[in-house]
Amino acid sequence: MLQKKGSEMASVVEMTSATMTTELTPVQHDIIKAAAAAPSPDNNQPWKFVCQEDSIQVFFDKTRKLESDVDYMFDMTGIGGAVENAIIAASHHDLVAEPVWLGNVEKPDLKLPVVELKLTSGGSPDPLNSVVEERCTCRKPYSKQPLETAILDSLEAAAVGRFPQAQIDWITDPRAKQRFGNVVAAMDSVRFRIPECHRELYKQLRFSRNEVEQTRDGLDVRTLELPPGVATMLKGLRSWEAMQAVHRLRLTPLLTIPSKVAVQKSAAIAVVSISTASIESYMHGGRAIERLWLAATALDLSMHPLGSPAIFLPQAKERPQFRSLIERSQQETFELLPRLGNRTMQLAFRVGRSKPPTARSLRREVSEVLGCPK
Ligand SMILES: Cc1cc2nc3c(=O)[nH]c(=O)nc-3n(C[C@H](O)[C@H](O)[C@H](O)COP(=O)(O)O)c2cc1C
Repeated sequence: MLQKKGSEMASVVEMTSATMTTELTPVQHDIIKAAAAAPSPDNNQPWKFVCQEDSIQVFFDKTRKLESDVDYMFDMTGIGGAVENAIIAASHHDLVAEPVWLGNVEKPDLKLPVVELKLTSGGSPDPLNSVVEERCTCRKPYSKQPLETAILDSLEAAAVGRFPQAQIDWITDPRAKQRFGNVVAAMDSVRFRIPECHRELYKQLRFSRNEVEQTRDGLDVRTLELPPGVATMLKGLRSWEAMQAVHRLRLTPLLTIPSKVAVQKSAAIAVVSISTASIESYMHGGRAIERLWLAATALDLSMHPLGSPAIFLPQAKERPQFRSLIERSQQETFELLPRLGNRTMQLAFRVGRSKPPTARSLRREVSEVLGCPK
């Protein structure tokens, strides 16, 4: 299928390491580049790919996993996005990429793929291909102008249409958005008070251009669109002792207010949930999320994930010191989202029209994401 022939003879040579050379055909290169353009939590890019003649194996690179993740939900969301992008890109080369879930996530042997994409010829080009590279997170303020129902319906159809286990609930009423903003701020404040999350945040933050370009992963502080002074303050809070002092002085709202305000400065909040809490479902939910995001991009809409509610709302028992805050936030969330019921919230987003982001997150080169995880 992907054998090099004709014009493809000029294969792209990718050096995966000093000792390993993998030759990719231009088609394979194109598919992997699209897969690696997927969003991931804190831009951790938790994936690796091995291309074979008629298949592409997708690995979960556990060495890049985030400590704060629960049951691999966010990492699998990223993997799902990469899988969906690969399927979309393959369709532009007259290939159907059929994903087979292999589920090797918790196995100690990292050299087993989580998903295999079986490639056969046929199918038709997916129009979302044109926005795979364009899609990005935009954390700027959005217009509060409501989005037409037809737009919300088309976004929902793009995501849920193919993944019936996924559901999107919208929050559009200004007062309800304000209440959800309080939930986000409360869950962000939990995140800022947990030492492991603090460590993880500073592992992922990139304060200088040099760091951004050298690592090509993590959170470029310029993409966070922070109000003046907050980036400098964040830099000064690298040590846990300094962060604890902020909490003791009751200055935590300085860190949580930006996302609370951002929630209000959006046209709508989309909450994506999934019917079954399993690692495989999270991967499919990640595929649905990627289609939602690409469909929004195609309509010139911006999106900004709000990760804290999905991670911390289910942790009332595990985090006794925050139990009452989490339980109050849970109550508020169920009132705002009555359809959520027993479903698992996978990720919430701000959605709306905005100016383009100040900066875009980089990705590691294709050569760096080839091969089995070490
Ligand atoms: C599962 C998941 C959770 C995320 N959570 C947050 C979040 O809580 N806050 C935020 O600002 N961005 C969040 N993001 C956005 C990522 O930081 C972003 O996708 C990544 O930095 C790559 O940038 P890009 O989307 O512009 O390509 C999340 C993304 C994913 C896939």
